[in-house]
Amino acid sequence: MFKGRTLITLVVTGGLLASLAACAPAGTSGGTGGDAGGTDCNVGIAMPTRSLERWINDGEGLKTKLEGDGCTVDLQYADNKTDQQISQIQNQVAGGAKILVVAAIDGETLGPVLEDAAGQGVTVIAYDRLINGTEAVDYYATFDNYKVGTLQGEFIEEQLGLADGAGPFNLEPFAGSPDDNNAGFFFQGAWDVLQPYVESGQLVIPSGKLSATNDDWKSIGILGWGSDDAQAEMDNRLQSFYTGGQKVQVVLSPNDSLALGIEQSLLSAGYTPGSDWPIITGQDADKANVQAILNDQQSMTVWKDTRELGDQVQAMVKSIVAGETPETNDDTTYDNGVKVVPAYLLDPQVVVKDDVESVLIDSGFLKASDVGL
Ligand code: GAL
Repeated sequence: MFKGRTLITLVVTGGLLASLAACAPAGTSGGTGGDAGGTDCNVGIAMPTRSLERWINDGEGLKTKLEGDGCTVDLQYADNKTDQQISQIQNQVAGGAKILVVAAIDGETLGPVLEDAAGQGVTVIAYDRLINGTEAVDYYATFDNYKVGTLQGEFIEEQLGLADGAGPFNLEPFAGSPDDNNAGFFFQGAWDVLQPYVESGQLVIPSGKLSATNDDWKSIGILGWGSDDAQAEMDNRLQSFYTGGQKVQVVLSPNDSLALGIEQSLLSAGYTPGSDWPIITGQDADKANVQAILNDQQSMTVWKDTRELGDQVQAMVKSIVAGETPETNDDTTYDNGVKVVPAYLLDPQVVVKDDVESVLIDSGFLKASDVGL
């Protein structure tokens, strides 16, 4: 039926077509494209703001990784405005994104836009902050947020010798943005360590902003994580509750942007690093705060190597594109009110002054020049 040359041509062409089909992106199950259960590598990354250092690193780093894998990537920052983030996500889906990586500004507001995306076959990865109240979150990649708080609480416990009965010490507790699901985990991790010492009287809170039995962290939350607002709150507490000569001896700050504002307030109030300066916690290893640590204006930060978070999301994207189930290591903790979202948690670690060079500089996370070294 087929002459020799024709038969060979048909066989070679068939083989070429087969091999090309194997590389072509296939649609999700119910998504677009082929029927192998995969999807196009077309990714929308929605980050909350450029005003906090870590999100710039997160967004740019992930975009570079995914583009290196040949993905089409759209990266957007929403100035901490939820409406802006919602329309950015809508535009990304309209523009062909088949995977969304979303660091929510407000974890309670994205249900409708993500349900619409899911209806178009889009897979959603919650990035660092859990997205609540919707089925349309497929995976969650973050650090162990409760452990971040525990590390902060245990640092204070150890530095003050609380387990050995030391005290009383004047504590001023702060919490993160009330619309950020992470902030509740940060606070609870720390408060589970510190609350017993408040109950015992070893820690006292002259501002009364939180009582021994109260764990209403949102009452001491700083909306949007702003340094200026944290500074204003600390100014208010110092002017209102520290007028008799007593001093703040320890501050629970959930992250570096708040710590920076608190440190500015203490300097304005005449506190002196190395003299009457309180213990202050933080998180994120922001450049300004690492410099503060080197200058004895901050005691520690909880470092989250966001490059690792990017690697994890990159691996999740690769699996989704291939039509495989991404690896997770915690499928029980993160209940978003509608479902327990399968998660991959990375480990945070404490960094103090002596660790800066060996941990942050030698790992390449920061350059010596970033922190005045
Ligand atoms: C949290 C994040 C922290 C902290 C804060 C402000 O959700 O996990 O790293 O920096 O937002 O961006």
